[in-house]
Amino acid sequence: MNAPVQPAPPPAAPAASATGAAGPDDVAAPASTGPQQDEARFVAWLRRVAPYIHAFRGKTFVVAVPGELIQAGWLNPLVQDLSLLHAMGMRIVLVHGSRPQVNEQLRLRGVQAHYAEGLRITDPVALECAKEASGEIRLDLEAAFSQGLPNTPMAHSAVRVVSGNLVTARPVGIVDGVDYQQTGLVRKIDVQTIRFALNSGAMVLLSPLGYSPTGEAFNLSMEDVAASTAIALDADKLIVLAETGGVFDVDGTLRREVSEAEAKELLAAGTLPEEMAFTLRHALRACEGGVARAHIIPYGLDGSVLLELFQHDGVGTMLVEETLEALREAGPDDVGGLLALLRPLEDDGTLVRRDRGLIEREIGNFTVIEHDGVIFGCAALYAFPRDGIGEMAALAVNPLVQGRGDGERLLQRIEQRARAAGLKRLFVLTTRTMHWFLKRGFVLASVDQLPGQRRGLYNWQRKSLVLIKQL
Ligand SMILES: CC(C)(COP(=O)(O)OP(=O)(O)OC[C@H]1O[C@@H](n2cnc3c(N)ncnc32)[C@H](O)[C@@H]1OP(=O)(O)O)[C@@H](O)C(=O)NCCC(=O)NCCS
Repeated sequence: MNAPVQPAPPPAAPAASATGAAGPDDVAAPASTGPQQDEARFVAWLRRVAPYIHAFRGKTFVVAVPGELIQAGWLNPLVQDLSLLHAMGMRIVLVHGSRPQVNEQLRLRGVQAHYAEGLRITDPVALECAKEASGEIRLDLEAAFSQGLPNTPMAHSAVRVVSGNLVTARPVGIVDGVDYQQTGLVRKIDVQTIRFALNSGAMVLLSPLGYSPTGEAFNLSMEDVAASTAIALDADKLIVLAETGGVFDVDGTLRREVSEAEAKELLAAGTLPEEMAFTLRHALRACEGGVARAHIIPYGLDGSVLLELFQHDGVGTMLVEETLEALREAGPDDVGGLLALLRPLEDDGTLVRRDRGLIEREIGNFTVIEHDGVIFGCAALYAFPRDGIGEMAALAVNPLVQGRGDGERLLQRIEQRARAAGLKRLFVLTTRTMHWFLKRGFVLASVDQLPGQRRGLYNWQRKSLVLIKQL
């Protein structure tokens, strides 16, 4: 199994995790150099986190908490972190799982668990076990969110947790001759009631159980409930805490960012371990259903939710939604469309002129946004592998559709391509768009910082500004 993240033992005391509000780069306690420097670092850290707090306030996050996390003793630190997010104005729907707890209940009754195609077959005994397990977990979670002892991160937290019959289910039924009995799938989420609860400042807690109009209960998978809820609420993020902690390449490298197309390829290749594939499939479904971001992060890492949200690189895998417009690498047929898009910007001096022959030769460097056969946006990546840096050039979005995030999506894709090529930094040369890049993490640099090959070609008359971003 290529999942290098092994859950570490949870911290001994609940309070111990609280100060680890963000990750090593940002908050690791510095080698103590005196109270003044410690204070300066603290202030600098808090300010660095501020943009994320502003960006996430009022946003809806669906967080999936597997039963394994609870079994491994990570519940308390997670509850503290979620309370903190709640206090910062994030709207949280928590979906818990119960797989190991159901298995434990079955074991206590001396009953064997039955699965088919990785899905539990829920007979009446298993359903009883699922109800008991969910009931217990729900009570434990409610108790954990009710903590408020002074000198703990939960002091003054006062989180209200609302749960209820908010998930309608339907039976999986009989598939390939296997009767899944009381195993179900989500049919509908009570969006109105969940929104009402979130608007009133409460956190919503959903169990992996659903009810049918016939009055029966069905055992559901946590991932199904979480993805369906995220889609129904049009949530900003789905965050799945998982033992695997992300998607890993065969060589064990963590994929920090995966596009929908890449996720589909990975799943089609069939090389991912079963659990990872299961989680990714649901994350992909959420993105396809309109959820902007789905994160798969390790539960065995203290503060992993905070690290993922408040650090640029995060600690898990982020799956990025692609809209119906196709964002893809360019091919020879796109040359005409690219010329039509770039010409006006070249004519007014915004972009450097590229003739047809050059675009034809370098077509593989381009990424395009196409809608109904028309190219609406483009950007190109030129790699300088020896210097570990790449250039993003020819970034352009048709004026008719500017301001809708296409520029940002192109930048993200070029960053993805650069990372995949092992590059550590990205630079741009610009005469008029400096602020757009500054807002997206680029910093001003000098011509000397360009790779040697590129420096020689720098046009001193054009006097473009050099901006560099760490990837
Ligand atoms: C720069 C460009 C690619 C952005 O594309 P886009 O799809 O509009 O980008 P997004 O929707 O992701 O971002 C829009 C935001 O950028 C801002 N923006 C657009 N052009 C800008 C500029 N030249 N300077 C600063 N901000 C700019 C918009 O005002 C908008 O801000 P808001 O979100 O606060 O309203 C597009 O404006 C363009 O094609 N410009 C002409 C070509 C160009 O300058 N390319 C860069 C050459 S180095």
